[in-house]
Amino acid sequence: MSQYKVTIQDFGTVEMAEGTKLAYGIEQAGFDISHRCGGNARCTTCRVAFNSPEPPMGQVEHDCLEEDGVLGQFRLSCQIRVDQDMDVKVLMRASDQGWDPGVDLEP
Ligand code: FES
Repeated sequence: MSQYKVTIQDFGTVEMAEGTKLAYGIEQAGFDISHRCGGNARCTTCRVAFNSPEPPMGQVEHDCLEEDGVLGQFRLSCQIRVDQDMDVKVLMRASDQGWDPGVDLEP
């Protein structure tokens, strides 16, 4: 299985196996990314901005962002599987928001 380098802005670069759920991989790396709904494309707190080219967007992510009127503003890391090197900025870090990360993420 391929490994990819994922850079988390202001944190560091880690290796993630191909297919890793991006939000899960970021959390496993030790960064307290928010995921209030547990990775179900409902809360949008797992939002990230891409410094590198964005991966394709799936229908579930698209529909959630469109419904909230934020399509094009950020991506949902719980709906993205790592399939290339990535460089992202986490936009809602739990410790900055004053809440716990949220419902546990499935891998
Ligand atoms: S939308 Fe809730 S964790 Fe991603």
